[in-house]
Amino acid sequence: MSRPRIAVTGRIPEPGLVMLREAGDVSAWDSAEVPTIDQVHDMVRGADAVVTLLTTKVDDALLDAAGPQLKVVANVAVGYNNIDVAACARRGVTATNTPGVLTEATADIAMALVLMATRRLGEGERVIRSGTPWQWGMFYMLGTGIQGQQLGIIGMGDIGQALARRARAFGMTIAYANRKPVEASVEAELGAVFMSQDDLLASSDVVSLNCPYSPATHHLIGAAELGRMKRSAYLVNTARGPIVDEAALVDALRTGIIAGAGLDVFEHEPAVHPGLLECEQAVLIPHLGSATIETRSAMAMLAARNVAAVLGGATPPTPIPVPSA
Ligand code: DGY
Repeated sequence: MSRPRIAVTGRIPEPGLVMLREAGDVSAWDSAEVPTIDQVHDMVRGADAVVTLLTTKVDDALLDAAGPQLKVVANVAVGYNNIDVAACARRGVTATNTPGVLTEATADIAMALVLMATRRLGEGERVIRSGTPWQWGMFYMLGTGIQGQQLGIIGMGDIGQALARRARAFGMTIAYANRKPVEASVEAELGAVFMSQDDLLASSDVVSLNCPYSPATHHLIGAAELGRMKRSAYLVNTARGPIVDEAALVDALRTGIIAGAGLDVFEHEPAVHPGLLECEQAVLIPHLGSATIETRSAMAMLAARNVAAVLGGATPPTPIPVPSA
């Protein structure tokens, strides 16, 4: 019997590839460049399994290019806004993602951005690197202490909760907005207070976005929402860029509607709104949420387990829920 064909549309860590090679014949894109759509479609033609990165758009065109033998699309990311899950389901293709294994790494980056934004660390680094003269001073580059301040978390899933644990260790209090309250035991552990998004925006000192991106969360934070925040507040985004209306954020930063921002993700990634580059009070990092050696290996291995399970006729460990029609 011929071995299944597995196409990998981007570079992934070797431990994942080793596992995939046990499950089938692997052809993997081997360049740091993101392949074009045509290159992706060529790669997936005739594949039984496709392993994707968040830069690969999985839509009807890709599924057509792959062909009717395709059984599984395994995203090496927890976010799956690049995948048309309903289109996969219509064709009997299982879609999977990699939740859990990147929770701590992403929460670390969110906490780092809270600290960087409130303590002006990006700005400070730029002073040193640019050779700008500086002198310790009582009033030099003062930031905001976060102890006793409220962190408002929008989207209290695994990453939101892991961020809350970190923020509590730094003395912050926790408010959250979510589709529904988390379990009472989790609320109690985190001392987290459930509130409406509007109340959260109005009362928080730092607002962190930790919700998935979908049509429902597109521009969840725009001019009106930024206007509800305290003028002294900060916005942190480690989820997905288009959750924030970036142009509105630039206006809010320029005009002092909010005090600052820490962004790991951007609306038109990898492009960054030029206005953000001019805002000293915005900390900007290039989508590093899950970027540790350990985490990326764990993500690749989980994706490989998903592929092996589906090809072997079993339920994969982490399927993406199919949206109800
Ligand atoms: C994810 O998994 O969705 C992250 O954004 C990848 O770093």
